[in-house]
Amino acid sequence: MSRQLSIAAFMMRYGHHVAAWRHPETDLLSNPFKVFRDQVRSAEKACLDAVFFADSVALTGAPSLEPLTLLSALAASTQHIGLIGTATTTYNEPYTVARQFASLDLLSEGRAGWNLVTSDNAAEAANFGREQHVAHADRYARAREFHQVVTGLWNSWDPDALEVDKSGALPYDPAKLHKLNHRGEHFAVAGPLNVARSPQGRPVVVQAGGSEVGRDLAAGTAEVVFTAQPTLAKAQAFYSDIKRRVVEKGRSPDAVKVMPGLFAVVGRTQAEADGKFAQLQSLIEPKAGLALLGRMIGNFDLSPYPLDGPLPELPPTQDGQRSRQQLLTDLAQGENLTIRQLYERIAGGRGHFTVAGTAEQVADQMQAWFEQGAADGFNFMAPALPGGLDDFLALVIPELQRRGLFRTSYEGSTLRGHLGL
Ligand SMILES: Cc1cc2nc3c(=O)[nH]c(=O)nc-3n(C[C@H](O)[C@H](O)[C@H](O)COP(=O)(O)O)c2cc1C
Repeated sequence: MSRQLSIAAFMMRYGHHVAAWRHPETDLLSNPFKVFRDQVRSAEKACLDAVFFADSVALTGAPSLEPLTLLSALAASTQHIGLIGTATTTYNEPYTVARQFASLDLLSEGRAGWNLVTSDNAAEAANFGREQHVAHADRYARAREFHQVVTGLWNSWDPDALEVDKSGALPYDPAKLHKLNHRGEHFAVAGPLNVARSPQGRPVVVQAGGSEVGRDLAAGTAEVVFTAQPTLAKAQAFYSDIKRRVVEKGRSPDAVKVMPGLFAVVGRTQAEADGKFAQLQSLIEPKAGLALLGRMIGNFDLSPYPLDGPLPELPPTQDGQRSRQQLLTDLAQGENLTIRQLYERIAGGRGHFTVAGTAEQVADQMQAWFEQGAADGFNFMAPALPGGLDDFLALVIPELQRRGLFRTSYEGSTLRGHLGL
């Protein structure tokens, strides 16, 4: 069978556009679980590989739900779709994270994925007894060891460890259970994990680091790489760089799926898509736009600078996302954008590939990225929920299916199976 796209839906409470919550169709008081449940069921009907929930352990704009709790409820409300959640390696303990995702993997019968992140939100520090956010290099050193411990713990149980007769003393074969005895710079974890192996073996590891160290970590650990790439050319460069690093680590290039974010406003005509996008853009409140930009460009306060003036020179971020800072600075300089123009540019996709058009046009772009070495799939970002995801599922997915680029039914039962890993 020919190669097909992997597609996840990147879920956000009101949608990805910074003004999504102000959209007339958005119900701020709706029950968030019911909203997500209905959306995820729709995504499952369209045979998406997975849904993905980001996370921050501090308020970022809208209140959110703790992803593992939410995904557990969603596991019980769905049958096929993969369930990817974020847990930070910066403000967590690996035993806890290993246990939570192993549990989700078991209760969803093999559909769990862990988005391993190094926190990019400096405000998280204050919720975990720290005066300062952990520095970039330290976050990545801790993340590497964190991954080692978590995956080590996931190997605690051999697949057949529970196949024992009842004459013995234990409900498992002790020879098939392994302690970890990890002692490192950041963690000391004896193990074994107290959750048995799932039908998937272990949860899928997802990563989204974009800096040098971030890419290096992804190449060594990730099975899926999420990334923000604004253009085909940049996505191609990122794609080949990740695949090269993966091969250098002794892994097959096909062992890692690169899935850039795709912020798409879909209409039945170009004018309808443009109108929907313009409506959201008109709802951007300058303070919110400025705050989003300040955070995305590396946790800087941009309020002292005139909105209609140029972006000031900023030092390299110590506590934010290096790769996104570069992306946004390049964008502003390349097109001579003012602060206001820059936040308007990222208010939807936050630097991710952005397109507004018909299903054919969106599918053309996806196909081009897929066939020209820029992507193995996409992480779809709906502008506003529920309409934004509904449009994509109802219009773009059938178009991709007609082109033979996307499945029309699930074949396997695990997330790793859907992804063809
Ligand atoms: C699609 C995508 C989703 C992300 N989700 C989260 C998240 O949920 N929580 C978080 O703290 N960081 C998240 N990140 C940020 C990454 O963990 C990482 O901090 C970021 O990519 C910057 O890494 P860098 O400093 O290596 O460039 C995400 C990044 C991308 C591209």
